[in-house]
Amino acid sequence: MDHFAYRDGVLHVEDVSVPAIAEAVGTPVYIYSAATLRRHAQVFREGLKDVSRKHLAYAIKANPNLAVLRVLADEGYGADVVSVGEMKRALAAGMPPADIVFSGVGKTRAELAAALDAGIGQFNLELEEEGVVLAALAAERGLTAPATLRVNPDVDAGTHAKISTGMKENKFGVPIDQAADMYARLSGLPGLNLRGIAIHIGSQLFDLAPLEAAYARVGDLVAELRASGHTVTHVDLGGGLGVPYRSGDMPPSPADYGAMVARVTKGWDVELMFEPGRVIAGNAGVLATEVIWVKPGVVHPYVIVDAAMNDLARVALYDAYHDFVAVEPTGERMIANIAGPVCESGDTFAMGRDIDAVASGDLAVLRTAGAYGATMASTYNSRPLVPEVLVDGDRYAVVADRVAAEALIAAERVPDWLAG
Ligand code: LLP
Repeated sequence: MDHFAYRDGVLHVEDVSVPAIAEAVGTPVYIYSAATLRRHAQVFREGLKDVSRKHLAYAIKANPNLAVLRVLADEGYGADVVSVGEMKRALAAGMPPADIVFSGVGKTRAELAAALDAGIGQFNLELEEEGVVLAALAAERGLTAPATLRVNPDVDAGTHAKISTGMKENKFGVPIDQAADMYARLSGLPGLNLRGIAIHIGSQLFDLAPLEAAYARVGDLVAELRASGHTVTHVDLGGGLGVPYRSGDMPPSPADYGAMVARVTKGWDVELMFEPGRVIAGNAGVLATEVIWVKPGVVHPYVIVDAAMNDLARVALYDAYHDFVAVEPTGERMIANIAGPVCESGDTFAMGRDIDAVASGDLAVLRTAGAYGATMASTYNSRPLVPEVLVDGDRYAVVADRVAAEALIAAERVPDWLAG
């Protein structure tokens, strides 16, 4: 459930109309609903009610806006971060360092050091050498770094190849059959408290079976480690739960997921950690856009909107589907292609789609854009960086400014010898 609904024929986000925001802020603009974020955070937690010891670390890569993080911090979420930049955001939003988990296949030595100095709660190691380096950096500081070893279970998560992470040819984790030996070697290092296992097999998952198979393999590994005398107190089960992008999509609910987790992890006797991203933020945001032209086409007309692939990259990158609805639908329909102004044929949001009829000047939204939307935006074609607005009841605020060409140009230099 979300808080985007029509009132008197006009799309509202909670109690604020989309035209009111478009008028004040301009388009394109991402609009998030705080009530939806809170609800998703609560539903995910509730789904895990049968897991007694758990830590929820929102994968902030999905939507790292400070205001979004603040809403989720207030819901008791920590953060899963993959760079020092994300760590700084989590801290700036008021998340306690101990609630932050540092994932990522290419943490630099400087990033490991910065995260140690910040006192973050856990490092998810991606290779043995990283553990050796982290242990040394921690020992130099008189610290002990809490860590898990991320394993690659070699399962096919059944999602888009670019967002699958748990197959043996993927760059993530260590092969699960080598994990016990590595765990043994790393466990002895001063400076490291290797306390468990981490896993994450992919994103936008619609099938619980591969997740369950992967978790079962982790269960076997935990038993094997304990049989060899190792301590295992934490298991990080990652994120990945899919969300509906179109009506009729039926991803597993957080309750289905939670029931599966409770069943598979029964008797593990560890603190379970979760890194949900999309399931929290995806349907809490839309990208509002204005129709610039309706251009006659040879097959179908092109609805040219003022949002483009630089604002929402998912369609160009993953052939993703985002629903397109008019803000003030007339009831008429049209079959059209929807495209942005960027000079690439890939800058197309849909081809031959049955949509609300729109004309130039009309407002529309691309739905389910709260996750992996604004955060993946760029300024390609020297387009301004898209702004973000958070709605909370009848209030709203611009929570990220539109960064216009002047600011981008101001950050560039022509060297003296060229300036002439
Ligand atoms: N934990 C780890 C270690 C991850 O790599 C990810 C996502 C998550 C958690 C959160 O996964 P989620 O619950 O959001 O599925 N840009 C792509 C998605 C990339 C996901 C990368 N890793 C997209 O727009 O579909």
